Amino acid sequence: MLGLYFFISLLCLARSDTRETCPSFTKLSFHSAVVGTQLNVKLMLYTRRNSTCAQIINSTFLGNLNVTRKTTFIVHGFRPTGSPPVWIGDLVEGLLSVEDMNVVVVDWNRGATTVLYNYASSKTKKVAAVLKEFIDQMLAEGASFDDIYMIGVSLGAHIAGFVGKEYSGQLGRITGLDPAGPLFNGRPPEDRLDPSDAQFVDVIHSDIDALGYREPLGNIDFYPNGGVDQPGCPKTIFGGLQYFKCDHQRSVYLYLSSLREDCAVTAYPCDSYRNYRNGKCVSCGAPQQEPCPVPGYYADTWKDYLKEKDPPMTKAFFDTAEEKPFCIYHYFVDIITWNKNIRRGSITIKLRDKAGNTTESKINHEPATFQKYHQVSLLARFNQDLEKVAAISLVFSTGSVIGPTYKLRILRMKLRSLAHPERPQLCRYDLVLMENIETVFQPILCPKLQM
Ligand SMILES: *[C@@H]1O[C@H](CO)[C@@H](O)[C@H](O)[C@H]1NC(C)=O
Ligand SMILES: *[C@@H]1O[C@H](CO)[C@@H](O)[C@H](O)[C@H]1NC(C)=O
Ligand SMILES: *[C@@H]1O[C@H](CO)[C@@H](O)[C@H](O)[C@H]1NC(C)=O
Ligand SMILES: *[C@@H]1O[C@H](CO)[C@@H](O)[C@H](O)[C@H]1NC(C)=O
Repeated sequence: MLGLYFFISLLCLARSDTRETCPSFTKLSFHSAVVGTQLNVKLMLYTRRNSTCAQIINSTFLGNLNVTRKTTFIVHGFRPTGSPPVWIGDLVEGLLSVEDMNVVVVDWNRGATTVLYNYASSKTKKVAAVLKEFIDQMLAEGASFDDIYMIGVSLGAHIAGFVGKEYSGQLGRITGLDPAGPLFNGRPPEDRLDPSDAQFVDVIHSDIDALGYREPLGNIDFYPNGGVDQPGCPKTIFGGLQYFKCDHQRSVYLYLSSLREDCAVTAYPCDSYRNYRNGKCVSCGAPQQEPCPVPGYYADTWKDYLKEKDPPMTKAFFDTAEEKPFCIYHYFVDIITWNKNIRRGSITIKLRDKAGNTTESKINHEPATFQKYHQVSLLARFNQDLEKVAAISLVFSTGSVIGPTYKLRILRMKLRSLAHPERPQLCRYDLVLMENIETVFQPILCPKLQM
């Protein structure tokens, strides 16, 4: 028994030896979470010259940190199992791929690892104090506030806010990724992240009904899929651990996605998710030419515009696909009908291109009301963006299984891309949809200058 113990200790020693040459994020066991951990903040520097091997730095030793460059701090949150965050390596790599900067991983796993959330939460101001001391040194060595950027995940978002308050909002930028809700919801601005904590504060809320913070906390607050129940995440507890963290973590994956050039997720400023879903908020399309914000790394492109508002806070909504790169492509389907009586119902739409690719819309708006000669504009979302649509299929449904079936008499339907308003709009005239029966047709180009 004792021999085995020694053997294991030796193994551990050997492993910690290799770690010393190339430091890594603190790995703890679930046992540590049960007994609790003392707070210890470790700062790990990554640069383009040293993107896979961290350098441990502190307020008396800035190491290879080049103060004339941008410095991005990554601050994680509560760690109930002690394991390192699975996304941390990808985030470091993604940031270094878009800009030559200093990336500082703030490893406070000792402190965050505990089964008691309120214990981890009580350490947030202490972590902020360590970061303040470090940033003071950076400033003393010539760094500029404008170049300091903090990305805070969950509890880390509030930590970033506490650091920002120490400098009265002079830090360049804070991004909050699903800022923690429990123990913070409803608290006054001094006890949580707030728009005045940096020159620009942007937030992604992905789990507002459980682990995340419900209300806006930044200059712009993005609510993917309304901020709840992210597509692709388990909906029941049978999904295991993922059930608890998948929605919460989605904010990080959406941010990561913004660092790649796969596709640009577009968000729409709106007062509520419901109005967004019903197509009431599409002001970023032509012809208004208003800026349409994108969540993630490039959200600060809209900084000046967003800060002009009074108060300088904007809510923006977008829907996502189930997996990366998460993009959804929006189209407007404008329909004018000529039924004598009002019809209520929903439309399912499928697009096909010449190569045979098809994509189906998830229009789950509330049933639309079709009134004679009135145009109804439905917002349709597709997982694929087909550039040249060769065929369109429509299904009209009133949703009732009993009773008579109805017809929808369409005078004109028009399909227009929101993301690419320059693309030709597609039309079709005189069409009768029989309820629950698919109607396929080839669209024609709409006449120019038609409103
Ligand atoms: C990268 O970091 C490691 C560990 O801090 C260090 O030994 C090595 O010299 C660094 N490499 C460069 C190119 O800075
Ligand atoms: C900071 O890091 C340097 C170099 O690793 C080390 O010598 C020094 O003791 C550290 N200072 C503190 C306060 O931890
Ligand atoms: C620090 O960064 C600046 C700007 O990118 C660069 O000109 C300079 O050479 C860097 N200094 C060092 C020591 O790498
Ligand atoms: C459409 O299909 C072709 C051939 O199957 C494929 O190469 C292409 O990537 C598809 N386009 C889209 C937008 O998915």
